[in-house]
Amino acid sequence: MNENKQAPGVYSVPKEWAERAYIDSERYAAMYAASIADPKGFWGEHGKRIHWFKPYGTVKNTSFEPGKVSIKWFEDGTTNVSHNCVDRHLPERGDQIAIIGVRDDPKDDAVRITYRELHAHVMKWANVLQSQGVRKGDNVTLYLPTIPEAAYAMLACARIGAVHSAVSTGLSPDKLGSRIADAASTVVVTADQGPRGGRNNPMKANVDAALDKLPGVVTSVIVVKRTGAPVEMLQGRDHYYDELAMTVPDECPPVEMNAEDPLFLLYTSGSTGKPKGVVHTTGGYLVYAAMTHQYVFDYHVGDIHWCTAELGWITGHSYIVYGPLANGATTLIFEGTPTYPSMSRYWDVIDKHKVSLFYTAPTAIRSLMGSGEDAVKSNSLASLRLLGSVGEPIDPKTWEWYHRVVGGGRCPIVDTWFQTETGGILITPLPGATKLKPGSVGTPFFGVRPELVDEAGDVLDGVENGNLVIADSWPGQMRTLYRDHERFEQEYFSLYPGKYFTGDGARRDADGYYSITGRVDDVINVSGHRIGTAEVESALVAHASVSEAAVVGYPHEIKGQGIYAYVTLIDGEAAADELRKELVSWVRKEIGPIFTIDKVQFALGLPKTTSGKIIRRILRKIAEDKCTEFGDSSTLSNPTVVDHLIDNRLNRK
Ligand code: WT7
Repeated sequence: MNENKQAPGVYSVPKEWAERAYIDSERYAAMYAASIADPKGFWGEHGKRIHWFKPYGTVKNTSFEPGKVSIKWFEDGTTNVSHNCVDRHLPERGDQIAIIGVRDDPKDDAVRITYRELHAHVMKWANVLQSQGVRKGDNVTLYLPTIPEAAYAMLACARIGAVHSAVSTGLSPDKLGSRIADAASTVVVTADQGPRGGRNNPMKANVDAALDKLPGVVTSVIVVKRTGAPVEMLQGRDHYYDELAMTVPDECPPVEMNAEDPLFLLYTSGSTGKPKGVVHTTGGYLVYAAMTHQYVFDYHVGDIHWCTAELGWITGHSYIVYGPLANGATTLIFEGTPTYPSMSRYWDVIDKHKVSLFYTAPTAIRSLMGSGEDAVKSNSLASLRLLGSVGEPIDPKTWEWYHRVVGGGRCPIVDTWFQTETGGILITPLPGATKLKPGSVGTPFFGVRPELVDEAGDVLDGVENGNLVIADSWPGQMRTLYRDHERFEQEYFSLYPGKYFTGDGARRDADGYYSITGRVDDVINVSGHRIGTAEVESALVAHASVSEAAVVGYPHEIKGQGIYAYVTLIDGEAAADELRKELVSWVRKEIGPIFTIDKVQFALGLPKTTSGKIIRRILRKIAEDKCTEFGDSSTLSNPTVVDHLIDNRLNRK
């Protein structure tokens, strides 16, 4: 079965893949070299893959120079993303399925939407948004389940030049509110409820709770009837989508947008408590999302593409909606979870809808691996052609299982590395061109110049471990942080001046293949979700009993990393189990269920330097149960605190 297995852990490109894929190894080498030698020539050519109302003359105008960071692609061209993802396909594939919407409950029928129907929905949605006062340049907050309506709303914003800001359903009403406020959205789109994993997320009620604290900001809440459950509707402010739709026209032409007009905001966590509003623009983003979707997944007409992400994350934007639809693909939008109603849900969906390209996160695979091979083998999975992984490192054991059990040994796995900030995939295998090495994300995509640098910023050559930076711009790159260009420069371009700093560490092997070793900043990655430890800490100290808190990640079998919190209490209160539970649910309520703390250790104090800075390195080691590997502790001001921490550590092997 594994005849392509070369050395242990290395799979060569199967012959049939090298023959039929768009890119084989020679073509990759030649195209990559060309993209680096002449980015303007390369992207000038590939920019033509989308339709431009007015063609661009200038391809690339970018600078990473400190104090002058500026990123513009195709800056004098005009286009419209909704036109490219919908209207453009009508003559050739109006009757082809664009979206398959699969609901949480397997007893519900799937929704199948043709490109022609998608066109009608998007125009209706665009008119509904306009009826609520949305104009070009306005920010619209979308707080929706992963359902086709969310894609309609995104494309409708793009159609009229509004900027969507999608908020994940895993965030608390407070966090939702702070994103609405930061974006100054006057219109919010939501659903009555969001079924997921057999439970109904009270989405409209969450919006109400968020808006209670933001009087006067939002003038209109548009509510999709997802379950039809009765919800409170505030007269004058809240409207059902269906009712608004009946009052507006059917037709709505796409607005001509400049390539550098913003397309969306997406808030993400950083190393400080304040979320960052990542800004992506129109032309370069779409070119990059579409091109990576085609080549990384080797997308061909007839493929059914299923990316299991939530729409509210970058993976959902680029590889559920914009990339696949720009390519005229059929994209599956799944509302549910991998484990509901049973451990075979993913595999059932793949068989039922003949999914050929399947893209998910290692956490999902790890959680399903535990239930054995039988849950997979009750399905044929014969439609699968390629598997993808994203969001966090995939360990070789999980990779092998995914390859052998899910892919039947015949489907290449593309382990794709990217970030909210990068817009699309930057480092990845190409299935017909690169060898597959479990645990490695392969080589850079066209136009991408990764480098490894040491702490001093010196570039490391050959086989090395270092901090991952990108030396030049690519079209899908974020342009700025919303209303905070200074922070943008500070966070991404100041540590290694002249280069984009990713926040990740990486290793490069003798073939030039990269492996991501994890974040090197105060961000942890839990189940592919990006968790700013500072956000969790500020939620903890907001609790009346907590004096100080420090949060670190530790290796977790299913989630990749778990959240480990060290907490000191006011008045040295009794550190009871009950308080532990209360703190966990407190944080979930404050900032959202994705921030579920795994371990709470009560501490007498936190290890600090003589200047009062928390020494996180020590806390990470204790959480990992590696208490003999602290390194240099000469600046530690309070050694007894550390002894107490070690004695009471929670992850003893
Ligand atoms: C961080 C970005 C990419 C979309 C989902 C997450 C980690 C991402 C991989 C991978 C190892 C990965 C990095 C990155 N990451 N993909 N294939 N292997 N790590 O987007 O929330 O912006 O998080 O996810 O640490 O910096 P995000």
